[in-house]
Amino acid sequence: MPTQQACSAAAALRSRRPSPASTTTTSRQLRLRPPRAATAGVRLTVSDAELESRGFAVRRTAEGIDVAALNEVFVRVGFPRRQEERLRRALEHSRVVWLSAGEEEGRPVAFARAAGDGVFNAVVWDVVVEPSSQGLGLGRAVMERLVDELRRDGVANIVLYAETRVVGFYRLLDFAMDPDGIRGMAYYRKSATTAA
Ligand SMILES: CC(C)(COP(=O)(O)OP(=O)(O)OC[C@H]1O[C@@H](n2cnc3c(N)ncnc32)[C@H](O)[C@@H]1OP(=O)(O)O)[C@@H](O)C(=O)NCCC(=O)NCCS
Repeated sequence: MPTQQACSAAAALRSRRPSPASTTTTSRQLRLRPPRAATAGVRLTVSDAELESRGFAVRRTAEGIDVAALNEVFVRVGFPRRQEERLRRALEHSRVVWLSAGEEEGRPVAFARAAGDGVFNAVVWDVVVEPSSQGLGLGRAVMERLVDELRRDGVANIVLYAETRVVGFYRLLDFAMDPDGIRGMAYYRKSATTAA
C-alpha cells in the first residue's frame, strides 16, 4: 500500500450498511449539498468547550488552514509531502476536521479528512496528530467529529485504510476489519508513478 494511501486498509464502521431509506434516490438527494438527514451523530468523548479550555480550537471546515503547515505535519509523521496546490484542491473536495492550538490559528495540531459522494459513502484519509501532541486524545477528538459530521450528513458507509500499527486506534473508534467478510481492495500497480 503506497504511503499516501496509509489512512484509508480495509476497515469499515461497524453496522453502517445503508438503510433502505438512504438508498432511495430523491430529487433532494441529487443536490450537490443535500440537506442534512436526521441520522444520529456520534457521542463525543471530549466536548469542543473542553478542548477549547485546553487551548485547542475545533475547526469543521478547511477554511483558514495553513496548508504548508499541514504538509509539515504530514512529513513529521512520515507521510509524503504533497504538492501544495493539489493538497489545497483535495481539501476543497473533502469534509475536514482539524484542531489548531490557540496562539497559532492556522497551524493544525490534529487533522482528519474524508472524501465521498456526500450522500452514501465516504473514505477517511490523512488522520494525523502533530508528534509532540500525540497521546492526548486529539486523534480521537478529530476522528469522532469527522464521523459525527458524516453521520449528520446521512452518510452511512464510512471506510478507511489503516496501517497495521494503527488498527487498534481505529477499533477503539468502532471501525471493524473486514465487516461481514467484505475485503477492501485498492488499485495497486507497483510500476505506476503518481504525483504526490
Ligand atoms: C494514529 C494517531 C492519529 C493517533 O492520534 P493520538 O492523538 O496519538 O491518539 P489519541 O491520544 O487520541 O488516542 C485515543 C486512543 O487510541 C489509542 N491509540 C492511539 N494510537 C494507537 C495505536 N497506534 N494503536 C492502538 N491504539 C492507539 C490510545 O491509547 C487511546 O486509547 P484510550 O482512549 O483507551 O486511552 C497519531 O498517533 C498519529 O498521527 N500517528 C502518525 C500518523 C498515522 O499513522 N496516522 C494514521 C494513518 S492510517
